Amino acid sequence: MEMKIHEIAVIGSGTMGSQIAMVCALSGYPVTLQDVSGESLAKAKDFLHQQMDKRVKKGRYTAEETDAAFSRILFTSNLADVRDADLVIEAIVEKLDVKRELFRQLDKITQPHAILATNSSTIVSSKLADATSRPEKVCNIHFFNPALVMELVEVVKGPHTSEETANTAMEFVKTIKKTPVLLKKEISGFIANRILGKLMDEAVFLLENGYASHEEIDLVCTKALNHPIGPFALMDLTGIDVNYFVRMQRYEESGDERDMPAKIVREKVQNGELGRKTGKGFYTYEKAAVEG
Ligand code: NAI
Repeated sequence: MEMKIHEIAVIGSGTMGSQIAMVCALSGYPVTLQDVSGESLAKAKDFLHQQMDKRVKKGRYTAEETDAAFSRILFTSNLADVRDADLVIEAIVEKLDVKRELFRQLDKITQPHAILATNSSTIVSSKLADATSRPEKVCNIHFFNPALVMELVEVVKGPHTSEETANTAMEFVKTIKKTPVLLKKEISGFIANRILGKLMDEAVFLLENGYASHEEIDLVCTKALNHPIGPFALMDLTGIDVNYFVRMQRYEESGDERDMPAKIVREKVQNGELGRKTGKGFYTYEKAAVEG
């Protein structure tokens, strides 16, 4: 059994939230996109217009389809505007206490049947469910960046999540023309990022211990394993600081020295060599990538 979703709310209009909102609007859903920052909302609108203009030029959407999708999105800083949503997808800053406070408020504002989902990359929904009076309606719906492009979505069922909520989330993902994968039990990092983390750890181990250069390791991954991009080029793309913070968080949780960020990653972060966004990471780039 699953519930029918008519209206969506997305909280946080940053990198992920803006694109998730657009994906939902393109599939015909009315969407309320809320953010505490007016500046972030304005940036999101500009960014989405740029992205959609490109797609219209390439013939992927007509100008009418795009205009119709934009007309379905309400950009707002007023959280009370999410009151009619059947499904809320939270995509705010990755801080547990801020997310918990938001879930507490959402629990009060939204209708009792509404599902409250988090797009967090690392925080399992059981860390948020008890901030609400409806833990059975809380789950993870994890999109990948860029959400306008990436097809796969991980749905994670916590011990508190009902079958109905998990089924509804799975069916919802199909309606926005994406492929859902269900994790029947929750685990931090879910599937893709856990596997990717292991790959990156091994790549860094081989580099730090002098077995090969980062170029050669990337070459093996692209040419022998058929990965579209090597682990070092990927770290440059996502930001070496992201890898650093993920490992620091793991270290803080476990207290195990082996979970610390690798020496080379610490050095890069200390030197401000964070990858494409700073013009230098493992590779050197002609100009720093423009944000967004
Ligand atoms: P971001 O920093 O681009 O955007 C976060 C937005 O949330 C900002 O616009 C900020 O103003 C807003 N915000 C902060 N506190 C708020 C509150 N209390 N209420 C409403 N809005 C608030 O972050 P990004 O990268 O979009 O990440 C958002 C979430 O998505 C995080 O939980 C992250 O783990 C997850 N995620 C990120 C991916 C990525 O590649 N960036 C990939 C998949 C998941």
